[in-house]
Amino acid sequence: MDKQHLTDTNKNWCILPMQLMHLHSVTSIEQLVSPGPWSLSQFRDSLKDHNGSVLVVGEYVRGFTIYTVGVEHADLLNIGLEPSFQGQGFGRLLLKSMIWQMPAEIKKIMLEVRVTNWKAIQFYKAMGFKKIDLRKDYYLNSKEQTSESALVMRRLLP
Ligand SMILES: CC(C)(COP(=O)(O)OP(=O)(O)OC[C@H]1O[C@@H](n2cnc3c(N)ncnc32)[C@H](O)[C@@H]1OP(=O)(O)O)[C@@H](O)C(=O)NCCC(=O)NCCS
Repeated sequence: MDKQHLTDTNKNWCILPMQLMHLHSVTSIEQLVSPGPWSLSQFRDSLKDHNGSVLVVGEYVRGFTIYTVGVEHADLLNIGLEPSFQGQGFGRLLLKSMIWQMPAEIKKIMLEVRVTNWKAIQFYKAMGFKKIDLRKDYYLNSKEQTSESALVMRRLLP
């Protein structure tokens, strides 16, 4: 498998670099899975400065990641899978694909996650992330107009 295109032709899925043409699908997934969803324009702006990947199953985008690579560390900014595609190992594949694309000098990946997002916290722990900090009232849950704290998590890379 090469680093840009992770594919399983038997199971009919692939992970591709995110492009503008994917953003409507990505935004629709985000609306389904996030209490404070990024807008289309946020995804578009993000793609100018950051990296993104999409999971395509059959003909359709079913998941995505957005991440940024700094000098020493990378930040996972967003990850989401359409609800009916969760719990089947696709999140693990998206994260592995991101890690494979990291330059050798990147030694850690950081992320923030809502303290109430139990499923994502379990997922990140299973992927080797550890809690290192808490940021109070970090998120605005726009659907409910409430704020929420974030756990900061880190995974060290070899
Ligand atoms: C979080 C998310 C990306 C995980 O992706 P996923 O495809 O569902 O996860 P996977 O099936 O790859 O699971 C990998 C491992 O994570 C853990 N895990 C995943 N879902 C879990 C759950 N509901 N409960 C406990 N552990 C879970 C398991 O250890 C699992 O390994 P296993 O199947 O061998 O036991 C996905 O559920 C999602 O899109 N959630 C909504 C959006 C979101 O919350 N994004 C994070 C924003 S910070």
